[in-house]
Amino acid sequence: MRLRKVKGAKEVILKSDYVINDPRLFKGKYKKIFNNENPIHLEIGTGKGKFIIEKAMNNPSINYIGIEKYDSVLIRAIEKLENLSVPNLRFINEDAINIELFFESEIDLIYLNFSDPWPKVRHAHRRLTSDRFLKRYEPIFLANPHIIIKTDNQSLFEYSLKSLVGNDYKIIDLSLDLHNSGISDNIMTEYEEKFSSMGATIYMVEVVRNRHLIDE
Ligand SMILES: C[S@@+](CC[C@H](N)C(=O)[O-])C[C@H]1O[C@@H](n2cnc3c(N)ncnc32)[C@H](O)[C@@H]1O
Repeated sequence: MRLRKVKGAKEVILKSDYVINDPRLFKGKYKKIFNNENPIHLEIGTGKGKFIIEKAMNNPSINYIGIEKYDSVLIRAIEKLENLSVPNLRFINEDAINIELFFESEIDLIYLNFSDPWPKVRHAHRRLTSDRFLKRYEPIFLANPHIIIKTDNQSLFEYSLKSLVGNDYKIIDLSLDLHNSGISDNIMTEYEEKFSSMGATIYMVEVVRNRHLIDE
């Protein structure tokens, strides 16, 4: 993603009630932030926030946290919330490579939407579905790890399927053309809107890993 620095973004983010500024302090205690026992769903690489904001508004009994590493991108999500009140939504402005430092046994579901493909083999370890990331997600889940992925990038999709299956995830839903699969409740991300309007096919996979069986 090409990035333009946004002047003052860091300051706005630091002041926003939607942003958890030191996620390390809340490890294992996120229910306190939301003040309820509802499930917590994460979106990693949340970008400008369209997906997670709409999800949170449509599902008040689920808590949502979006992680985005660039303040110049996250600021766009914060701006969208200016005249809204969405109590079940928070953001973290950090690199998800450190995700194990932020959460422990408290996440129910991870969304990976239109993750950066990192096409060069030498950058494969940066893909959010690489072994390295999948292993770091493991301890943050409350129960069985559960991930939903959408992308328009066929190579990343194929790589992700291999990586997930290699890490003992089981596929519970899969579409090779999500927008022509009869689903009615799909919430589009910014990238999804852009690429599907240009004719791209959207891939989706939902996977779970039975931790109980595997760890025995
Ligand atoms: C291609 S964009 C997609 C944004 C959004 N999910 C969408 O579908 O419109 C990928 C986003 O993931 C963020 N990202 C990539 N790697 C990340 C990481 N390790 N930690 C946090 N954010 C990351 C990037 O900064 C970028 O905003």
